[in-house]
Amino acid sequence: MSAQQILKVFVTRRIPQEGMKILQKAGLCNLSVWDSDEPVPRAELLKGVAGAHGILCLLSDKIDTEVLDAAGPNLKVISTLSVGFDHLAIDEIKKRGIRVGYTPDVLTDATAELTVALLLATARRLPEGVEEVKNGGWSTWKPLWLCGYGLSGSTVGVIGLGRIGLAIARRLKPFGVKRLLYTGRQPKPQAQEVDGEYVPLDTLVGESDFVVVSCSLTPDTQGLCDKTFFSKMKKTSIFINTSRGSVVNQEDLFEALSSGQIAAAGLDVTTPEPLPTVHPLLTLKNCVVLPHIGSATYSTRGVMSELTANNLLAGLTGSEMPSELKM
Ligand code: NDP
Ligand code: DGY
Repeated sequence: MSAQQILKVFVTRRIPQEGMKILQKAGLCNLSVWDSDEPVPRAELLKGVAGAHGILCLLSDKIDTEVLDAAGPNLKVISTLSVGFDHLAIDEIKKRGIRVGYTPDVLTDATAELTVALLLATARRLPEGVEEVKNGGWSTWKPLWLCGYGLSGSTVGVIGLGRIGLAIARRLKPFGVKRLLYTGRQPKPQAQEVDGEYVPLDTLVGESDFVVVSCSLTPDTQGLCDKTFFSKMKKTSIFINTSRGSVVNQEDLFEALSSGQIAAAGLDVTTPEPLPTVHPLLTLKNCVVLPHIGSATYSTRGVMSELTANNLLAGLTGSEMPSELKM
């Protein structure tokens, strides 16, 4: 049997061609692709991974013990087309000696850019304004109509000053931000670049005009933004989340937004995804919801696809991965 027949790889979605070309050109493995833009149904995922040496997955695929068992002992590598890895059962994967590839850095700029766009759109009420132009609500120029909040002279608080958090801070500072607060598990030397002040979470939440969440989803950050959290924010503050939906308790956020406890929220991530069109958050004018498009530029997705393919191949051949998750 040739190596090509032996190494089996299951790709859980149609991915940008840059990555597929790399996999095909390598000629190392039998590729089985869920050739659709929609997620693979769970039963097909379990069937598809059987006997696989490698899995190339997306953030919407839950890779848990059931999937690992279905794959069986051949599985050497899981390569995810994402920097977030909360969809992977890391402890179990580690226990089984399976390597994980992911896509840090290459999507940092695109995600930071989108976060700034979402923040400005939310704070300056752009979706409301666009809607008013279309529906005839624009009668004349009025002094207080569609007023919002500006960044100049403001305090911004970043929860999780990692790769993306720092890139967001770098982009926000030139808008005239006066103080840049951040929180995390430890102070970051690189915060100096943005004059970042490491503060306790309560201080950040209470003093920030803009609270930006860019941390990873972990057991510690799950549900971090809840009733107590929102009750400490200023009534004029804006809440932005581009990390993961589960960092937020959405019922509590709805309450905070509808009662005027906080001014507005911009979310690129929700629970679940997609957010049902009848969800209460979508009835609020002061809540801007995007469909998880942080990294969605053509070039970023192309590079993510390449990196995911190269991580997978390195995992299959036992060589150094361009971006291996340290577990
Ligand atoms: P990093 O690992 O560089 O940053 C994660 C940050 O989270 C770290 O600074 C870490 O702080 C912080 N963190 C972890 N635990 C806590 C905690 N308990 N309280 C506060 N902060 C905490 O990852 P990236 O910046 O590359 O990506 C961050 C996340 O963004 C991803 O995990 C993903 O979920 C999300 N993402 C979303 C995208 C989108 O499309 N909306 C696109 C890309 C990523 P410390 O170092 O101190 O531990
Ligand atoms: C990630 O990579 O974790 C994002 O959520 C999508 O790019």
